[in-house]
Amino acid sequence: MAMCGIVGYVGEREALPIVLGSLQRIEYRGYDSCGILVQDSANGQVYMHKGLESIDELMEILPLCDYHGNIGIGHTRWATHGTPSVRNAHPHLDCNGEIAVVHNGIIENFQSLKEGLLRNCRFRSDTDTEVIPHLIENTLMRIRDSGESGEELLKDAIRESLSYLKGSYAIIVAIKGFDGLIAARRESPLIIGVGDRENFIASDVPAVLEQTNRVIYLEEGDIAVVKKDGIYIENGAVEVKRVVRLIPWTIEDAEKGGYEHFMLKEIHEEPKAIIDTLRGYLTETGIELGFDARHDIMMVACGTSYYAALCGKYIIEHIARIPVQVELASEFNYSDTVLGDDKTVIAMTQSGETADTLMALKKAKRFGCHTVAITNVVGSSVTRIADDTVYIRAGPEIGVAATKSFIAQLVTIYLLGLYLADIPRHDLEGWIEELKRLPQLAQMVIDDSNAVIQDIARYLAGFENVFFVGRGVNLPVALEGALKLKEISYIHAEGYAAGELKHGPFALLTNATPVVAILSNDNVYEKLLGNIKEIKARDAPVVAVAVEGDDEIEKYVDAVIRVPATRALLSPIPNSVALHLLAYWAAKARGCEIDKPRNLAKSVTVE
Ligand code: AGP
Repeated sequence: MAMCGIVGYVGEREALPIVLGSLQRIEYRGYDSCGILVQDSANGQVYMHKGLESIDELMEILPLCDYHGNIGIGHTRWATHGTPSVRNAHPHLDCNGEIAVVHNGIIENFQSLKEGLLRNCRFRSDTDTEVIPHLIENTLMRIRDSGESGEELLKDAIRESLSYLKGSYAIIVAIKGFDGLIAARRESPLIIGVGDRENFIASDVPAVLEQTNRVIYLEEGDIAVVKKDGIYIENGAVEVKRVVRLIPWTIEDAEKGGYEHFMLKEIHEEPKAIIDTLRGYLTETGIELGFDARHDIMMVACGTSYYAALCGKYIIEHIARIPVQVELASEFNYSDTVLGDDKTVIAMTQSGETADTLMALKKAKRFGCHTVAITNVVGSSVTRIADDTVYIRAGPEIGVAATKSFIAQLVTIYLLGLYLADIPRHDLEGWIEELKRLPQLAQMVIDDSNAVIQDIARYLAGFENVFFVGRGVNLPVALEGALKLKEISYIHAEGYAAGELKHGPFALLTNATPVVAILSNDNVYEKLLGNIKEIKARDAPVVAVAVEGDDEIEKYVDAVIRVPATRALLSPIPNSVALHLLAYWAAKARGCEIDKPRNLAKSVTVE
């Protein structure tokens, strides 16, 4: 679950408030310690502070410390090696205290590197990161007489030092007396915010949005020398040019926008996520996704994205009659799944940085598969592995629990199914008309069902175990509903095929195990109604998610969450909006953290 945040600033303004402000914008990534360093490139003065305080506390304390400098780096640490402590907080320094490094990722061979360095280095921490400044210092000393000087010497030393590292890193290096910062990335995301006579470096876009919306996404293996009036980027010791992208998100987008939690804001943005995603691919003549899939499709993903992929199997096989396999990325990476150049492997990943999913796509490439990424983050790592990328357009999703990104993933899958289908024009137009109604249906759930959902959520909040059941395309919706509830309310929730409960889980049913049953006007409605009757016969309370106008269901359940009618295959959209709200209000009723659930991170960038 390692996930740290790193930030940097080079310019003409005081670095401290900018670095702290950037760290504050990425607090959502979770952290247990943080630190900053500022240095004045005019007089070489360096100030550093690191500890277990929160960013807010640092914002109180540090301005009183008279730290001045126009260059700065900062770090929020999520412990992977070494307990949360002052000594393990970043930045980490070389022996002379002239090289400071902040790092996100995991150096897998740090023990062996440390052993090699111990001869003439004094280590101050238990972290993997600390080998980096010492490596740079040692390399600098060794190549100092190479005839290279200044920046070239620095680049050589950094390049060589990084070549010894195994594992993942996004780092920013500050060097006493050097009028810039050096940034580098491998498998951990890193961006540069481009300003006017100032530049910013950060793990994620919200950290720089207050300062600039011009962003460079560093690519795998990039090393950048960032100064106030210039950015040099190389890859494989060759200078490269990287696109400066205009990020359409304002800082408000990445802020809570008046909602108590990012998650609630993002659920309320689900209609807009549908609109924006549709807008990206609906053309005058139909649907254009920009790639051709080979016949067999395999989807690989984790967590909520895996449930979106599971919905994809039902959707694409129903609409396009193309076989779809779905595998958990963490299983796919070590399985003997048959792969070949006849397969299109689609990685479904909101963040585009999930290590398991990135590994899966690299494996698919090695087997000659056509690889496609469906992701929410422009320029994310997965886009640089995949042959083709389809962007969902959910906008920044800050809450750890995936909500609007899941909805946008589903929309993209409907588009994919229709794009691959060879159906009569009339049918295609009918589907597109229905897709265009989805934002309104999602809005109706938010507007019309919210009060009932809040009541039912407060009721469920009193239980410790909840089942979610569904059939057909609403089985993955049940699995997703259970994940949502468990990850933010900490209630043990389990998603199950409705027809499977009688094969064992019935043993758990009592009046203390409510069941949420997700119905739709589909071909398995009667079957699911039968399952509900069996469940009721065992005293378990039943909450139904059911279509407006279905009056039958009232007779058999304890409560009903109404959703607007649509084609059965599209019902995962309104049903999921309802379940996202249900999870949110249950977590709120239990006073949970919601945006930053315990033990979780927004994107899981380690295996
Ligand atoms: C979902 O609510 C969780 N935050 C988590 O399961 C997430 O879906 C999973 O880690 C995959 O993330 P990705 O879509 O960014 O790859």
